[in-house]
Amino acid sequence: MTEKFKILVTRKWPKKVEEKLLTTFDTTLNVEDRPLSEAELVEGMKSYDALLPTVTDPITDKIISTSNKKVKIIGNFGVGFNNIDIDSAKRNSIVVTNTPEVLTDCTADIAMLLMLGVARRGSEGEFHVRKKEWTGWRPTHMMGTKVTGKTLGLIGMGRIAQAMAHKSHFGFNMKIIFFDPYFDNDEVVKKFQATKLNSIDEVLSQADFVSLHCPSTKETKGLINKETISKMKKSAYLINTARGDIVNENDLVEALKEEMIMGAGLDVYEKEPSVHKNLVQLKNVFLLPHLGSATIETREAMGMRVFENIQAFFNNKEPIDRVV
Ligand code: DGY
Repeated sequence: MTEKFKILVTRKWPKKVEEKLLTTFDTTLNVEDRPLSEAELVEGMKSYDALLPTVTDPITDKIISTSNKKVKIIGNFGVGFNNIDIDSAKRNSIVVTNTPEVLTDCTADIAMLLMLGVARRGSEGEFHVRKKEWTGWRPTHMMGTKVTGKTLGLIGMGRIAQAMAHKSHFGFNMKIIFFDPYFDNDEVVKKFQATKLNSIDEVLSQADFVSLHCPSTKETKGLINKETISKMKKSAYLINTARGDIVNENDLVEALKEEMIMGAGLDVYEKEPSVHKNLVQLKNVFLLPHLGSATIETREAMGMRVFENIQAFFNNKEPIDRVV
């Protein structure tokens, strides 16, 4: 029998995918679902052929550059790969893959939930009922903001933004405006009758809902701060399903307290899993714990995508989702 490749899975994965990994490779699972320490990851680099982390495992230069390493491929469970030091992976000739496409719709669904949830005061209403504070229907009770027909401003026009544009335009008759210097697909623009704007500021000043869909990079970190928020309409809402550090959370809290904007719907945070202590005190926010891709169907599909990537690699083929 030929020797099986050794695989280290850093967190608990959907059962179906774990079973597939176990039958194909010499797989070490994380049954306790405990985050692995840097020291454990360094050790992992030395004794496994592939490391399968998730978006919450920081795969630093120290881990990647470990001497006497055996790992040749890092198959990230997630489309975002800002948890991995990509330059270090390049320098160390380690292949990195991610999981695009399979989570597009579910993440866009969560963006819709945040938009509707914050505009229609979903959290507040739910707590009101649960705490038995509701005294009955009345004309001025818990009035929110109408979503249908409003303007959605997208920062970034990748797959998830396009899926949100589709749902918003065709489902909620929303006008779509966006900023994305790298996007150049007239067909898509035509399909959503969208308007491509030349600057972020134009999107911020015209949108009723601003939804973030750019990756976390040196350029986008802290992109949403007190100054950029001041460009938004006072009646507007901020939606974030991308990465928490694109928003300066301190500034957002201040802006929400000062009612510079109406509210925010957030699925991602600057220092996950900790959430700014003042953010959770605010009423004009709708907060979820990074649930964008959290459906059984999507998480299984993400796992299968990682499986396909590493299987291709070990069969000397090009992994479909190779990042470097
Ligand atoms: C990703 O894949 O990057 C997501 O944030 C996980 O839901």
